[in-house]
Amino acid sequence: MSHPADLEQRIKALAPWFHNIELNGIQTAPDHFLGDYPSFKWKGFRHLVPEDLRGRTVLDIGCNGGFYSLEMKRRRADLVVGVDSDPRCLAQARLAAEASGLDISFRQLSVYEIGALRQRFDFVIFMGVLYHLRHPLLALDLIHEHVVGDQLLCQSMLRGNTHVPEVASNYPFEEQAIFEQEGYPRMVFIEHNYAEDPTNWWVPNRSGMEAMLRSAGFRIVGQTDDEVYLCHREERPAMVEPPPRISFDA
Ligand SMILES: C[S@@+](CC[C@H](N)C(=O)[O-])C[C@H]1O[C@@H](n2cnc3c(N)ncnc32)[C@H](O)[C@@H]1O
Repeated sequence: MSHPADLEQRIKALAPWFHNIELNGIQTAPDHFLGDYPSFKWKGFRHLVPEDLRGRTVLDIGCNGGFYSLEMKRRRADLVVGVDSDPRCLAQARLAAEASGLDISFRQLSVYEIGALRQRFDFVIFMGVLYHLRHPLLALDLIHEHVVGDQLLCQSMLRGNTHVPEVASNYPFEEQAIFEQEGYPRMVFIEHNYAEDPTNWWVPNRSGMEAMLRSAGFRIVGQTDDEVYLCHREERPAMVEPPPRISFDA
């Protein structure tokens, strides 16, 4: 690894970092607006992730600066692959892995092209990406169809009512009050900006998130008080059509 001064230069050259990662004593984003992100978030849900990932493969979709990919390799996963659509994030992630002496493969790929990996993974991480997508349910469908072999760890920003009501499998056409019911599954479309970020497109409430996960074929087996879900892959509900085939270069 580079001399500390060189490393500091390389970290600075890739700024700004969204992930604060300590590399040889140097923090990549010491002034992060969320604090020590994502370390503080990770502390809240790391108990959901197996301590020992030996014998397992991991895919980190929307890996950003690589924080979770690094943690998965530290838990000794046999293979960790991180993908992101943003090449600068991938350059950060590669530097973080190199400086940490961890063997992780990073690829530039959109979640919509995830089938190009042509591989299922035992443990798939999909944290903080869903609400940045114009087609969030398509992304969950593609993730189910192509890459999750066993478990999915998913997080989305959630807003609105946190109550999760019982929802019937059908209502008559005349029923309208249900749409006003506290906690009825919902996702809000943001045409312009939220938190000064024009890439925040869709924000579900809690029951909306859970309904989408189930509908895409994921059974929720663990969750935290905030926004993180651990799911097992199962067959998609019978009435749900498979996602469209999206062509991509292998
Ligand atoms: C809010 S960050 C979350 C990063 C990390 N997963 C976490 O939880 O800290 C969203 C990440 O998703 C990536 N992203 C956005 N759209 C994507 C897409 N269509 N396919 C893959 N990655 C995408 C962004 O480049 C960014 O790195």
